Amino acid sequence: MCGIVGATAKRQVSGILIEGLLRLEYRGYDSAGIATQEISTKSFNRIRVSGKVRDLVVALSEQPIRGTGGLAHTRWATHGAPIERNAHPHIANGRIALVHNGTIENFVSLRKELEDSGRQLDSQTDSEVVAQLVDLGIESGSTFLGAVQQTVARLEGAFALGLMCSTDPGTIIAVRKGCPLVVGLGTDEHFIASDVLALRSVTNQFIFLDEGDIAVMSSGSLQIFDEQGQPVERDSIRVSDQGESVDKGSYRHYLEKEIHDQPQAIRSTLEGRITEQHISEPGLGRCVSEIFDKTSAISIVGCGTSYYAAYVAKYWIEDMAQIPCSAEIASEFRYRNAAVLDGSLFLSLSQSGESADTIAALRLAEQRNYMHTMNIGNVPTSTLMRESATAIAMRAGVEVSVASTKSFTTMLVDLLLVALLLARRRGFPREREHEIVKALHILDEAVECALLLDDRIRQLAEEFLLTQHALFLGRGVHYPVALEGALKLKEISYMHAEGYPAGELKHGPLALVDADMPVVAVAPNNELLRKVQLNLQEVRARGGRLYVFTDEAADFDHQNDVVVIEVPKVHPALSPIVFTIPLQLLAYHVATLRGTDIDQPRNIAKSVTVE
Ligand code: G6P
Repeated sequence: MCGIVGATAKRQVSGILIEGLLRLEYRGYDSAGIATQEISTKSFNRIRVSGKVRDLVVALSEQPIRGTGGLAHTRWATHGAPIERNAHPHIANGRIALVHNGTIENFVSLRKELEDSGRQLDSQTDSEVVAQLVDLGIESGSTFLGAVQQTVARLEGAFALGLMCSTDPGTIIAVRKGCPLVVGLGTDEHFIASDVLALRSVTNQFIFLDEGDIAVMSSGSLQIFDEQGQPVERDSIRVSDQGESVDKGSYRHYLEKEIHDQPQAIRSTLEGRITEQHISEPGLGRCVSEIFDKTSAISIVGCGTSYYAAYVAKYWIEDMAQIPCSAEIASEFRYRNAAVLDGSLFLSLSQSGESADTIAALRLAEQRNYMHTMNIGNVPTSTLMRESATAIAMRAGVEVSVASTKSFTTMLVDLLLVALLLARRRGFPREREHEIVKALHILDEAVECALLLDDRIRQLAEEFLLTQHALFLGRGVHYPVALEGALKLKEISYMHAEGYPAGELKHGPLALVDADMPVVAVAPNNELLRKVQLNLQEVRARGGRLYVFTDEAADFDHQNDVVVIEVPKVHPALSPIVFTIPLQLLAYHVATLRGTDIDQPRNIAKSVTVE
């Protein structure tokens, strides 16, 4: 999703801006641009490209640009195609340079108003409208800040903005309203960025702007105004370097590395959170015990892979704790008048902590009757973590690839601990907790064994090369695992894949099954195995190609039309985690064979900061 970087300093900033863009690449984007300003000439130098930051670097090497202030951007197209003309920074009337993340919902009427007043817009974007309005404000006699404030008051939607003005060289104005934006503090220099990662090479001191804040900065000064236009002081936070490598190491792609990171990520997640036999409540964070004592219902909300983690947790929590649990897609929850049961805990799940829909869901939950809000997230400085009353920090480590892998499995580990803590309060036998904890102690090894399927699955992936569709089936807690398997395949290989509860096959999808349709079944040997086998017979009878992931191959006939892949056997409570691994490998190898952009698949983004 769009990434913003800005800098005002006493040194040249184009290198800082490019480094920042490279660090934001993981968010996903389709065009990039930079504009710098020299105090002496005041005018802007701009280069934009349709494509990657590396293309921008090539363009810059052919035509270097100078400036001690500047803005840079990676754009994920919403309004208008990903072409150079629509790339940011936008420059209005040679006077205002602007970068924008988010969407301006009333841009059609604002654009019409500008066109009616004789303004010609260069792009099809909603963003340029903002630059033009600010310029119009200055033309009518407002100061740069005044024009920004008047414009922002007219905008509907969620956005973060960075602006510069040719008549106020060296000044950057930053606006945060609904989309993340941080201010980085240097020595005689200030920066802005969509997230702290972008600025880690220049500072570790940050101010997280509040909703509605407008920050005005030059190299030597910084002033922040709140939503009412009043000057405010915001605390700065030192973000410690977690010493995390965001290097691919010897792997070809971040995705591959992150799949293989999972045993370590699981070990880190469990550290200090389980004793030999039990879960250690303080290990999950402050106040967690108190909240779980009062929890009698739970609503879990997330997007994409995080939503599927919520779905797995729903099965766990209702089964073990016997309390009502709903799992819901954040973009649905936020516009629904959901019934809130007494004692309900609102739990948001988000790797990035910046998914716009999940943030909106949290803000809605705060206005409703929820007993408490909690977040499980992977980025400690994120909006969701900061705005939720309580947070459980995931320990997946930095996840760079757009498609989530290790954040899914570590989120599941955290959710399993939550389920067990809730269950403990509802009479779940201590011996059963003990058995699961025992199994958790060796979960990393089971995941390592599952990763050994890599070669086998690489060969299998060849069978998916020429097909256009795949069906993923599961039952019970493995149904959301099938959904996640299908999502992984479609998002990185661009192959159509659908997850379905195996029992629903005969109510529709069976019509799609023929010899060209690979059907992937997640079928551990549990109480539902016989039922799944019956469902799979329905596929075989129609000549479908079956790929069965199971932990007891013995129960499946080794026939030509069934490929059986044996996954390490673990405690049934942990099998959703272990069964996820081969499905991730399958998606990875199919995508590699298809030659797609594995870490930054087309059209999708890692941190979805727009609605
Ligand atoms: C995007 C990513 C997915 C991710 C989803 C939710 O769609 O491409 O991989 O699962 O956002 O992200 P979150 O950071 O909220 O978990």
